[in-house]
Amino acid sequence: MSDTGQVPGEAARRLNEAGSVTVLTGAGVSAESGIPTFRGADGLWQEYRAQDLATPQAFARDPQLVWEWYHWRRRLVSEASANLAHKAIAGIEDRADAFTLVTQNVDGLHRAAGSRNILEIHGNLNRARCLNCGHREHLDRQEGIPRCGSCQGVMRPDVVWFGESLDRQTLEAAFTAAASAQVFIVAGTSNVVQPAASLAFAAADRGGYVLEINLEPTPLTGTADATVLGPAGELLPQLVEMAWS
Ligand code: OAD
Repeated sequence: MSDTGQVPGEAARRLNEAGSVTVLTGAGVSAESGIPTFRGADGLWQEYRAQDLATPQAFARDPQLVWEWYHWRRRLVSEASANLAHKAIAGIEDRADAFTLVTQNVDGLHRAAGSRNILEIHGNLNRARCLNCGHREHLDRQEGIPRCGSCQGVMRPDVVWFGESLDRQTLEAAFTAAASAQVFIVAGTSNVVQPAASLAFAAADRGGYVLEINLEPTPLTGTADATVLGPAGELLPQLVEMAWS
């Protein structure tokens, strides 16, 4: 079922009664903070698509270029604030008995909004990892190729790139949270990048109620119990208001 602009009462009632809630987010949740999505019209940086830069091959070819793109994204994020969608998700965590947030976003805005139990399955923009010794560091510089504070090796962004595996423990925790969710909310993701795109299906398989929020239908739409079309910054606060008013 797909609806425009109005959260179904059934979704709000389920959320209110749920013992366990899991939320999966994608770039659409940060769009209203001014962070471009990957596959939207604003997804290009210079003439590059994310798929051209977010790969180990691109980094091996031109680490300076890949770092420039990440420094640009980090600058955007440092100037951005959490929006009403991030805050509504933190509000759900405050009210739910058991709660997990699984995010594909690397921007840290969920934490800024007050979310606590977060699985950042694609890493974090503000960390770098040494290619030589694996040492991780918080990044504060805004340009150039960072060098490892431990061995002086070249560092890369501590994010997951196309063709790379996700951290196994984090991914297992995400699938456990999906399988145990009585309500599973999917917001602002195109649901095309695996393995994240399988999480909602895993929740549905185990009998969880799946609510999708997006501007447009996705490959999940036929399977979700409800899909509401509209901005996450309006629909998630509406959901919270309906569930707990
Ligand atoms: P995408 O750019 O693929 O999809 C963003 C989704 O958000 C689209 O389905 C939009 O319709 C929707 N959207 C945009 N604005 C919205 C709004 N205000 N409210 C609700 N929905 C909105 O981003 P992701 O699904 O996050 O991975 O992409 C998944 C992964 O692909 C990313 O984590 C990244 C990328 O390559 C890596 O870098 C490994």
